[in-house]
Amino acid sequence: MVFAARPTRCLAVDPMHPNAAVIREAGNVLRRGGLVAFPTETVYGLGANALDARAVADIFYAKGRPVDNPLIVHIDRAESLRDYVAEIPPVVPQLAARFWPGPLTLVIRGGEKFAPGVTGGLGTVAVRVPAHPVALAIIRAAGAPVAAPSANASGRPSPTTAAHVLDDLAGRVDLVVDGGPAGLGVESTVLDLTGERPVILRPGGVTRQELEPVLGPVELDKSVLGEAAGGRPRSPGMKYTHYAPRAPLFLFEGGDGSQLAKRILEEAERLAAAGHKVGVLACEETAALYRGKGYHLVVVGRRSDPGTVAASLYESLRRFDRLGVDVILAEGIPCDGVGLAVMNRLRRAAGGNIVAVCTDDSPDPGISIYKP
Ligand code: TXA
Ligand code: MG
Repeated sequence: MVFAARPTRCLAVDPMHPNAAVIREAGNVLRRGGLVAFPTETVYGLGANALDARAVADIFYAKGRPVDNPLIVHIDRAESLRDYVAEIPPVVPQLAARFWPGPLTLVIRGGEKFAPGVTGGLGTVAVRVPAHPVALAIIRAAGAPVAAPSANASGRPSPTTAAHVLDDLAGRVDLVVDGGPAGLGVESTVLDLTGERPVILRPGGVTRQELEPVLGPVELDKSVLGEAAGGRPRSPGMKYTHYAPRAPLFLFEGGDGSQLAKRILEEAERLAAAGHKVGVLACEETAALYRGKGYHLVVVGRRSDPGTVAASLYESLRRFDRLGVDVILAEGIPCDGVGLAVMNRLRRAAGGNIVAVCTDDSPDPGISIYKP
C-alpha cells in the first residue's frame, strides 16, 4: 500500500502533567494505526503501534528510513517485556532496576511478536522504557508497545523540539504532541546483550562508566567512533550518514580548545576569502575567539560540561540550515561521559570529514577539506 500524505495536527501539553484529553487522543490515533510524534527524555520519537505491521511500515515511509534499520520498542515498564519476549536474559531485570525508565536501550533475542519492520528480520529486538511523563502516558493510552525511531527525516539531525519534528515531517505524521524541549538532547545508549559480552552499539545518555559496575566489562563497538567495523554493522543504523545538517561539516579534533580554534580560524579565513559563507560550531570557552570576523557562530555549550553540548547539539546543527551557510567548521570535545555520544554524532554528521589537529610539534598532516 502507498503511504498516504496526511494533515498533521500539533497539540501542546504540560510535560510534567500532560492534559488527559490530548493523551487519550494520541492513544486513539495509535490504536487506529496512525503515527504520533512525542517527546522523550532524549529526543522526540515517531511512534506507531509496534504490533501493527502497516503502521510500522508507515514509519519507514514517513522518515524515508532504510527498511533494514530496525526500530526501538518503547514499553511503559520492564515487566511488560514478558508479554512479548520468551527468554529474558537475567541481567535485564538488574539493568532495568538501575536504569529504567531512562536512556538505555537493550538489544535482546526474540521479538517475533512485533511487526516485522520492528526487528528488521535480525532475530533480535531493541527495547527501552522512556523517562518522560508524556511518552509513558501515550504508551499506556495506546494499550500497546510503541515502536519509535527519532522523529526526524532519515539522515537529518534528531529532533529535540516539536518545531524540529514539523520541519521534517509535517504532512507525514497524524499528530505531534508538543511537550517542550527534550531534556538530554542525544539519543539513548544502545546496548547489545546477545553476545558473550555486552557491547555498546551506540553511546548515549547512559555511559559505559555507569554500566560497568552492574555488568562488568562492557565493549564499545568499533563503529562508535567511526572506525571501519569490517563486515556487517551490528547496529544497522550506524552504517548510514546521520545527524547531518545541509552544509558539509568538518570536525576538528585532537587538540585542546585553543588549538582547535587556531586551526579552525585559519580554515575559516581561507574559506571566507574564497567567497564561502562559513559557519562555526564552538564551545563557550572559545566562542569569543571567533566573534567580529563575519563568521556565523553557533555556541553549543561548555567543553568542560559535555551534557550542555549534548542538550543543544541538534538544535545547533539545525540552526546552520536556517542561517544558510555553505560549510560548517566544528570544534570536537573530549570523549568523557556523554561527550562520547556527542563525538559519535558529530563524526557521523561529518561523514568522514575529520580534521586531526596536531597537539605536538610534528608537522601538520594537512586536512581533508581539500578532498573532492
Ligand atoms: O533515544 C532514543 O533511543 C530515541 C527515542 C525516540 O527513544 N530513539 C532512537 O531511535 O534514537 P532510532 O531509530 O533513531 O535509533 C535506533 C538505533 C538505530 O541505530 C538502530 O539501528 C538500532 O537502534 N537498533 C534498533 N533495533 C536494533 C536491533 N535489533 N539490533 C541492533 N541495533 C538495533
Ligand atoms: Mg535516529
